[in-house]
Amino acid sequence: MSSALIKRKRPKTAKAAVVGWRRILTRFWPEVRQEKFLLMLAWVGLLGEILAQLLEPWPLKLIFDHIIVPDATTLPLPIPFLNDLPELALLTVLTVAIVLATALKAGASYMSLVSLSIASSRIIAQIRAKLYGHLQRLSLSFHSKARNGDLITRIINDIDRLREVTITAAVPLVVNTLTLVSMVGVMFWMNAQLAFIGLLVFPLSILAATKLTKQIHQVARQQRQREGAMAATASEAINAIKVVQALSLEGMLETMFATDNTKSLEDVARTQQLSAGLQRTVEILVAVATAVVLWRGVQLVTTGGATPGDLLVFMTYLKTSFKPTKKLAKYMAAIAKATASGERIIDILDTVPEIRDVRGAVAAPRFAGQVSFRNVAFGYEPGTSILRGLSFEAQPGQRIALVGPSGGGKSTLVSLLLRLYDPIEGNILIDGHDLRQYQVESLRRQVSIVLQDSVLFAVRGINVRRDKGIFGATYQ
Ligand SMILES: Nc1ncnc2c1ncn2[C@@H]1O[C@H](COP(=O)(O)OP(=O)(O)OP(=O)(O)O)[C@@H](O)[C@H]1O
Ligand SMILES: [Mg+2]
Repeated sequence: MSSALIKRKRPKTAKAAVVGWRRILTRFWPEVRQEKFLLMLAWVGLLGEILAQLLEPWPLKLIFDHIIVPDATTLPLPIPFLNDLPELALLTVLTVAIVLATALKAGASYMSLVSLSIASSRIIAQIRAKLYGHLQRLSLSFHSKARNGDLITRIINDIDRLREVTITAAVPLVVNTLTLVSMVGVMFWMNAQLAFIGLLVFPLSILAATKLTKQIHQVARQQRQREGAMAATASEAINAIKVVQALSLEGMLETMFATDNTKSLEDVARTQQLSAGLQRTVEILVAVATAVVLWRGVQLVTTGGATPGDLLVFMTYLKTSFKPTKKLAKYMAAIAKATASGERIIDILDTVPEIRDVRGAVAAPRFAGQVSFRNVAFGYEPGTSILRGLSFEAQPGQRIALVGPSGGGKSTLVSLLLRLYDPIEGNILIDGHDLRQYQVESLRRQVSIVLQDSVLFAVRGINVRRDKGIFGATYQ
C-alpha cells in the first residue's frame, strides 16, 4: 500500500516512456472517453493542419510550371477544369488558393487547439477531483507515512504538468512527425533522387539536437541544485542568526553563498549559450540540405528531370519538416517528465484504503450505544504495540472517563472506536456487532468526538454541528 510513497523518476528510455503513457491512458480512459467529441474535433483539426501545410507550396509551384515557365512541363494541371482556363483566370485562381491554404491551416489549427484545450482541462479537472476525493478517503495510516508537501504537489503540479505537456509537447510531436512523414512521402513520389539527397542531413540534425539538449538538461539540473544549496545556506544562516553572529561566521557563510551564486549565474549563461547553439546548428543543417537539393535540383531542371516548381516544393518541405527537429529532444524530455507525473498520480489512485467497507457491510442502524472491546491489540507501526489485551464493556448511557499518562493510548482507543484504524487483534463491537460489519460512514456519523487539536477550516460552507461532532460536518 505504501507504493504511493515511491519517488517516481522520469523514465530513462523512450520505451519506458511509451509503457508509462500506455498505463496512464488506460487508467484515465473513462475520463478521456467522455470528451470523445472534442478530441475527435481536435484530431480532425490536426489532420486539416497537416494537409494545409502539404498544400501550401503547390499553388506557387503550378504558377511557376504553367504560367512563368510554360514549357517546364508537359503534364496537365492536377485539376482538369484548370486546363481550360485562360492564363489570367488561372493565375487568379492559384493566387486565391494560396490564401485559402493558409486560411485552412489557420482555421484547422485554431479548431484543434481550442477543442484540445477544453477537452484536456475537463479531463484534468475530473482526474484532480477523483484524486482529491481518493486522498481524503485513504486511511490515516497512509497519511501518517506520506509527506503532505508531496501529496499536495501531486494534486496540483503533477496533474497540471500532464495537461500542459499534452498540449505543448505530445500533440506537437505527433503533428510534426505526421507532417514529416507525409512530406517525405510526397517528396519521394515527386522525385526520389532529390528526396534522398535532401534527407541525407536529417539524421545529423536529430543527432545534434539530441546531444545538445542532453547537455542543456545537465547544466540546468546543476543550476537547480546550486540554487537549492543557496536557498539552504541562506535560510540556515538567517534562522540561526544568533549563532552566526555570536561565532562570527558571517564572513565564511558569505563566501560559501558567493561561490554558489557566481556558479549559478555561469550555469544560466551556459544554458542559454547551448540552446542558442542548438537553434543555429539546425538552421545551418537546413541550409546545407537546401543547398545540396538546389545544386542537384537545378541540374535536373536544366536536363528536364524536374520542373522549377518541383524545386520550390522541395525547398519549402525541407524547411517545414526540419524546423521541429531542434525541439524534438525537448519534447521527449517534457514527455518523460510528464510520464513520471502521471504515474505518481496513478500510484495514489491505486492505493486501496486500508479502512474500507468490507463486502456485505450494512448501514449502521441507530445505535443504542453498548460498546465492547474484546482482547484488542493495536500499534501504529508493525512490531510496536500501544494497546494489548484490552477488554471492557460500556453500557448505553454510562459515563466513562479514561485516565492515564500522556501517550498512554487514550486517543488511540477512541480512534479505534471510530474505525480510523483497525485493531491488529481482537474485536470492537457496538450493540453486539463488530464495527467492520457496518459501513464506515454510517458508523462515524453516529459517533461524536471533540478532538484534542481543533481545526479551523478556511473552506466556506463546512459547518461543524455540535450534535454530530466534526465527523458529522455537513457541507452546505
Ligand atoms: N499517528 C501516529 N503514528 C505513530 N504513533 C502514534 C500516532 N499517534 C499516536 N502515536 C503514539 O501512540 C502512543 C499513544 O498515543 P495517544 O495519542 O493515544 O496517547 P494519549 O493517551 O491520548 O496521550 P495524551 O494524554 O497526551 O493525549 C504515543 O506513544 C504516541 O506517540
Ligand atoms: Mg490524547
